[in-house]
Amino acid sequence: MTSAWKPLECLLTQCPGKTMISKPMEQALLTQLNREFSSAYIYLAMSAYCSHLEFNGAASWFKLQYEEEHLHATRIYNYLVEQGVHVVLGEVACPPSDFGNLLDVFNAALTHEQSMTSLLNDLSDHALKEKDHATYNLLQWFVNEQVEEEATLGGIISKLKLVKDDGYGLLMIDNELGARQTATTAA
Ligand SMILES: [Fe+2]
Ligand SMILES: [Fe+2]
Repeated sequence: MTSAWKPLECLLTQCPGKTMISKPMEQALLTQLNREFSSAYIYLAMSAYCSHLEFNGAASWFKLQYEEEHLHATRIYNYLVEQGVHVVLGEVACPPSDFGNLLDVFNAALTHEQSMTSLLNDLSDHALKEKDHATYNLLQWFVNEQVEEEATLGGIISKLKLVKDDGYGLLMIDNELGARQTATTAA
């Protein structure tokens, strides 16, 4: 058999260590996988904190956000496995336990999403530079998702700024947040 056939042979036999994406891209996606789990963990901590404050609608909203980030992590995990990568999981950072008032919680969530958007944009640039169009396509889904997440959080923050410390207003917003049904922000 000529050497030209070796890559195909390798793919057919699922040769260990042979992936369809570059090592730097593999490492970058493994880092992003960890960030998605970390996001999930932060949102679960926010949910717990809102429960502690007895904002049960917000707690439910953040619980769904936690599930959504879990789905993001799974999407990257599945992609890496399909690309033949041996996924080695890392530690997930410990999230804070106190986030201030309800507006502070949502501001922290927006700041977090903005930093994720920036990192995902960098990752997309990386994929384009490598002409790795499969990974670029995967990342475009995430980039679009970020637009939606930031818009949703911005809308909630605007309402919270309007009501300030008004108890009735906060109760109304908490009820509205509790109406979210699914782990997608387009609720
Ligand atoms: Fe995410
Ligand atoms: Fe997110």
